[in-house]
Amino acid sequence: MRDSAVAFAPATVANVGIGFDILGHTVQALGDRVTARRTDKPGVRITAITGVVTRLPLDAQRNTAGKAVMSLWEAQGGQGGVELQIEKGIPLSSGLGGSAASAVAAVVAANALLPNPADKMTLLKCAMHGEQVASGSVHVDNISPSLFGGLVLTVGVDNPRIKQVPVPGGVRCVLVHPHLELETRAARGVLSANVTLSDFVWQTANLAGFISGCYSGDLDLIRDSFEDVVIERQRQTLIPGFPEVRTAAMAHGALGCSISGAGPTVFAWCEAPRAEAIRGAMVAAFSAHGLDADSWVTMIEPPGARIEDGTA
Ligand code: HSE
Repeated sequence: MRDSAVAFAPATVANVGIGFDILGHTVQALGDRVTARRTDKPGVRITAITGVVTRLPLDAQRNTAGKAVMSLWEAQGGQGGVELQIEKGIPLSSGLGGSAASAVAAVVAANALLPNPADKMTLLKCAMHGEQVASGSVHVDNISPSLFGGLVLTVGVDNPRIKQVPVPGGVRCVLVHPHLELETRAARGVLSANVTLSDFVWQTANLAGFISGCYSGDLDLIRDSFEDVVIERQRQTLIPGFPEVRTAAMAHGALGCSISGAGPTVFAWCEAPRAEAIRGAMVAAFSAHGLDADSWVTMIEPPGARIEDGTA
């Protein structure tokens, strides 16, 4: 049995525009790292939080990683306790799945300490308990891709089914993170509980077209389907300059552009040769609204979370 393990879990783009709460994909450029150590003393303790975010609760009950490992330890009957060190690589309230990545990295690291490790579906459910602490709601569209990797569709909540959807070769994701924070709780709070019938039909068609386009490698179908007609219009006022950033991405040939998760990061899918021009145009559009931004171009592919120390 191991005494310690280090795990990395990638950042994620939740919703991917048209799959609110059910679709997400990995962003390999960024992630959170958690070191788990077995202790004789029972209970889960967080001993350090370092990296780009440090103002998070050390109380395990109130911390996504801590809560997720408490849930795992209880589910698997773990003996003794666990200490966690969290290294944040994902900015706070950025729309890049930071709370999910911490929860996923924590359960993957802690799982490596168990004599009878849990399967991935158990890890998913334990990470969901952690994510709930941060966002106040149960959604899996950050956790599933962070754990499984690539573009992931999650069907169901209590007994979720996971489907890794193929992404056509040569497609890239451009991410632009303006320097402001947007809490998921607040961004969910602006959403109406009702959808008109015509929007329901439109959104359903777009999701079906997008997924079909991914399976068949049909970039035209992906482009034509890549439009969120329900969520984006309600949230866009929370992100200064969003319409201009989206217009800039589309004008430079993006397949689609929308809000990453709850925002404020904006993402665009595109063919690889267009990625740098799209990135520059999106950053410039935020800059015109007085916002500095970080940006990345990433492939959309597995792996998901993994043990990093080479011994597991
Ligand atoms: N699907 C969630 C939302 C993701 O958009 O509220 C939050 O990270």
